[in-house]
Amino acid sequence: MAERYGAHRHGGVSSPNFVMEEPALLAELGDVAGLDVLDLGCGDAALGAMLLELGCTSYLGIDGSQEMVTRAEVTLQDPRGTVALQNMEELSLPARSIDLAVSRLAVHYLEDLDAVLRACHAALRPGGRLCFSVLHPVITSSDVQPSPGPQGSWTVDDYFLSGARERLWMGDTVTWFHRTTEQYVGAISGAGFNLTAMRECEPEPGRFGGDEAELARRRRVPMFLLLSARAT
Ligand SMILES: C[S@@+](CC[C@H](N)C(=O)[O-])C[C@H]1O[C@@H](n2cnc3c(N)ncnc32)[C@H](O)[C@@H]1O
Repeated sequence: MAERYGAHRHGGVSSPNFVMEEPALLAELGDVAGLDVLDLGCGDAALGAMLLELGCTSYLGIDGSQEMVTRAEVTLQDPRGTVALQNMEELSLPARSIDLAVSRLAVHYLEDLDAVLRACHAALRPGGRLCFSVLHPVITSSDVQPSPGPQGSWTVDDYFLSGARERLWMGDTVTWFHRTTEQYVGAISGAGFNLTAMRECEPEPGRFGGDEAELARRRRVPMFLLLSARAT
């Protein structure tokens, strides 16, 4: 699974993460110099390597998969970067010890998002930031399995029925927890944050290497939702 995800995630033009989510995330994060950063569900910590390169003071990635943690340890060849095998639900950091809690495409695996957001709030310094991306609620709504190959049609269904959805993804069955956009926004403010931005990760034309057909395909449906907030 980790290997298949890595190939997908770093697949250039064919990876929606690369052409849609990453440009929006980097624009939203802005200047990270001098920040202590926590990454929830860090995967192979590719983001950690990028943020350290951009001058963050420290990076801690946590992930619940040993396979991913092993990959992250290989990625993070920098003493300012560390990774821990830990579930997001067990997050426990000293109060007011980080400046930025970030998460890419991981919190839709959580049944109890509220508790994790509250734990992030407690770990953030006053005015600290939270920024996370999830699969867009129009994508997580339905449990219709996509057919193999590049997707040309999408099903939105049961949108207002939040809860678990089993999907075949990267050759495994995974459980995602569908929430509406309104519920994500409510969870953020309920945990003590002020929402500062919401992005739907419109495809970035410059990342398509001139592949106009793929750009047109990616303009059809939002794949990701990115939310940014500040601790009050
Ligand atoms: C789709 S991957 C994204 C990885 C990475 N953030 C990225 O963008 O490449 C989701 C990650 O979340 C991790 N994950 C899922 N549920 C988790 C949980 N409850 N606690 C910690 N990590 C979890 C998985 O092991 C996986 O590495």
